[in-house]
Amino acid sequence: MNGVVSVVGSLNIDHVVSVSEHPSPGETVLGLRLRTLPGGKGANQAVAAARAGAAVRMIGRIGDDPDGTRYLHALSRRGIDTSAVRRAPDQHTGRAHVTVDRTGENSVIVIPGANSTLTAAEVTTAAESIRTASVVLLQLETPLPAVEEAAELAAETGARLVLNASPVAPLPDRLLRLADPVIVNEHEHQRLAVRPRSVCVTLGADGARWGKYRERPPHTSVVDTTGAGDAFAGTLAGLLASGSTEQDALAAAVRAGAQATTWHGAQGWELP
Ligand code: RIB
Repeated sequence: MNGVVSVVGSLNIDHVVSVSEHPSPGETVLGLRLRTLPGGKGANQAVAAARAGAAVRMIGRIGDDPDGTRYLHALSRRGIDTSAVRRAPDQHTGRAHVTVDRTGENSVIVIPGANSTLTAAEVTTAAESIRTASVVLLQLETPLPAVEEAAELAAETGARLVLNASPVAPLPDRLLRLADPVIVNEHEHQRLAVRPRSVCVTLGADGARWGKYRERPPHTSVVDTTGAGDAFAGTLAGLLASGSTEQDALAAAVRAGAQATTWHGAQGWELP
């Protein structure tokens, strides 16, 4: 059975610069290559969930610009339902400046643009899409009231809520208690003020753990770690939606996260 995942989250265009080494503060370095690639934690996770076999609906905001149009068309062609992604007038589509060094390590600066205009009311207009999903997948690159509204809509019908608490931010206890699981890396885990009822911790090159389960990744040649956590979260959500056991979903998510380090950019494809 292919489950339905509704993703409420960000869509960014990533400007990815390859460098030998990251510059220190105050230092100038020469970049090796600039790529323009699809990104944003929400869209990255939506693409990963679709790759895992789920039917995916995306709820979010793009700008009133050609980048947004191009991105939406490309996501639709990849089978993602983007009918609840609305345009934000007078805003640019979200952008991220990503720097990746020769070890694949990345640093990211996000300029949210249209993503910052996603309101709780806008999420309410997509209530049907959220209430009828098997899994609702959230991250923290859109404003918190929108995230909370999506979580409440999921709770109303018993859709499973998967929350990737990234980028790290203070969160209401209720949100952390509704999610099953909260996905965090080790750094984010330490900064959670409340103990979630279910927490899945990603461990970078060491894989991930969730409750009594622990999975290690296969060896890969790392090119770019950008979006590896998103591939993990999207795959986990996609497989949980389709009825996989938690252990199987975790194992597949760890493999997907490892695979995502072998390509440039977050999603493994380029905007046409
Ligand atoms: O998690 C990686 C993502 O973070 C990038 O695609 C970038 O757009 C930022 O949202």
